[in-house]
Amino acid sequence: MIPTLEEIVSLAKRRGFVYPTSEIYGGLTSSYDYGPMGSVLLKNIKDAWWQEFVLNRDDMYGLDSQILLNPQTWIASGHINSFTDPLVEDKITHLRYRADHIIKNWLKNQKKSELDQLNVNDLSTAEMGQIIKQYKITSPDGNELTPPKDFNILFETAIGAVAGEKSLVYLRGETAQGIFSNFKQVLNSTRAKLPFGIGQIGKSFRNEITSGQFLFRQLEFEQAEIEFFFDPTQTNWQELMDDWKEQMFSFVTNTLSINSKNLRWRRHTDQERSHYSKETFDLDYHFSFGWDELWGLAYRTDYDLKQHMQHSGESLEYIDPNTHQKVIPHVMEPAVGIDRLFLMMLTDAYKTDYDRLYLDLKPSLAPYQIAVFPLLRNKPELISLATQLHQSLKSKFRASFDDRGNIGKRYLYQDEIGTPYCLTVDFQSLEDKAVTVRDRNSTQQERVKIDKLISYLTKKISE
Ligand code: GAP
Repeated sequence: MIPTLEEIVSLAKRRGFVYPTSEIYGGLTSSYDYGPMGSVLLKNIKDAWWQEFVLNRDDMYGLDSQILLNPQTWIASGHINSFTDPLVEDKITHLRYRADHIIKNWLKNQKKSELDQLNVNDLSTAEMGQIIKQYKITSPDGNELTPPKDFNILFETAIGAVAGEKSLVYLRGETAQGIFSNFKQVLNSTRAKLPFGIGQIGKSFRNEITSGQFLFRQLEFEQAEIEFFFDPTQTNWQELMDDWKEQMFSFVTNTLSINSKNLRWRRHTDQERSHYSKETFDLDYHFSFGWDELWGLAYRTDYDLKQHMQHSGESLEYIDPNTHQKVIPHVMEPAVGIDRLFLMMLTDAYKTDYDRLYLDLKPSLAPYQIAVFPLLRNKPELISLATQLHQSLKSKFRASFDDRGNIGKRYLYQDEIGTPYCLTVDFQSLEDKAVTVRDRNSTQQERVKIDKLISYLTKKISE
């Protein structure tokens, strides 16, 4: 059973994974903060991505570029002209919506056969306007809507210390452009040979019109993007794309342990594809609100490097070290939102079992891997042994200590934050130098000698 978004939001807040941003001031639309549990899980996801796609590979380089770039970047990339969403406004409440989302929601309740083949992703802004008019589609409050117009979702800000001399800059709408504009520098400062990729993780910003999708669609979010450069005369792009599809799928199912039944590939139609792409696939996940994009894979050709060559006047060509031939590399781009990976992990891990709720997070990624409890809090000899054990295990595992309330409540709390193993020190431990280890998923308990705990837990956590 897929949990509802309300269930996930509630657990995330109650257990310190995700809080609404600036809640004491009434919040900020489509903005969330990661709490004590969430910040660790988020970092573990980012570290896993970086390890697998940058550190483990010989053909990948890391990068950490700025959020504010020279504004020419966004003219060259096409974002100033094309980075838009179709916006409609409720004529009475003045609330704004995405026209495609309004039509998709309306379609869910339509039985007309003429609409069976309608793919909203393929519609231009003008075509959406015609459909809204023809079928008299209204806002969620039942009011008439304005005709849709293209709304640019790049955030603007200004730099310049002297008043009146401010100049317009943009918060980056994708991390990719920092990679393209540094392409030549990476090439000149490393031993890179085609094919090779540059990966980076960082914040991106979009002035999204839609709200209410929790972490899925935010104004400020984190992307993990790779631009993989290759010579199209040497590397077949379809094979490269298939190869990246496998790697993306394997990261999600093996590294993050997500159920493959909740994943599917969706090919973009010609009308839907971004201006820079020759072929795009989305790896979709079955979120609480239905199937939607988790991770995009686009063949961007040499579009970006060519555009930046034209606008900057700099050559961004690659010279083959053997043949001395010049080539403008082509690019395969796997681009994922870390926040969407996070939301997917909470959704997939959310399990209920009789009267308890637990998060079936992969042990190596869970915020805490173990929790140590003294059976009773008012027994100094138990507290002392449990504290010692906690201190000694902390250097090996992410370990928490809990002596509040009764054991049952402590288990329930640890289950809800996804701690896979709870270790209880009881009176018998003082005699037999062993503790009870309780498994989160099965709730089975096992007695394990203290001097065997590190190897026992290392094995369990790496399974
Ligand atoms: N450089 C290509 C690019 O940015 P995209 O499909 O617009 O492509 C890539 O974004 C990924 O970033 C998406 O697959 C999604 O996971 C994530 N993403 C995009 N917009 C987002 C938003 N408003 N909030 C959270 N994640 C977002």
